[in-house]
Amino acid sequence: MIMVLLGSALIAVSVEPESKEKWVAPGAEAQKKNPVAINDSSLAVGQKIYLQRCVGCHGRTGKGDGADAADLGIHPAKLSDAAVQQQTDGELFWKVTVGKKPMPNYRSRLSPTDRWNVINYLRTLARR
Ligand code: HEC
Repeated sequence: MIMVLLGSALIAVSVEPESKEKWVAPGAEAQKKNPVAINDSSLAVGQKIYLQRCVGCHGRTGKGDGADAADLGIHPAKLSDAAVQQQTDGELFWKVTVGKKPMPNYRSRLSPTDRWNVINYLRTLARR
């Protein structure tokens, strides 16, 4: 961490490769409403995407214990935890859209509708 004095403003510049700071979505994004209703077809599409694209890191039940996580030596978020489940759909949508190393971004990999479908599916992990 390097402190830089700029005029009267003290600006903290992080030079660590992996930030330990909490990942917080911008307020406007957090308030974005989920336009896709939770129903069988949305959950089926969301589950398919999750099992294809997310399970390797986040694990089948969202405990962050996927096979790739061990291989890569990374610690993906536990999506079944309250810390994730209490976030709004908008926050989770934004995070899946922009990604955060080592998690890829899905802005161009998944359509907005499919990103909402996968968010709907993530809600089912809370109960497991
Ligand atoms: C290469 C491994 C990897 C893949 C694939 C991956 N993630 Fe992640 N994900 C991570 C890691 C690591 C984090 C923690 C990032 C951080 O907080 O520094 C994370 C964080 C998240 C978060 C934020 C949790 C929080 O703490 O707020 C969500 C939501 C999420 N992932 C959903 C998904 C979804 C949905 C997919 C599939 C479309 C996916 N991820 C694919 C590794 C991955």
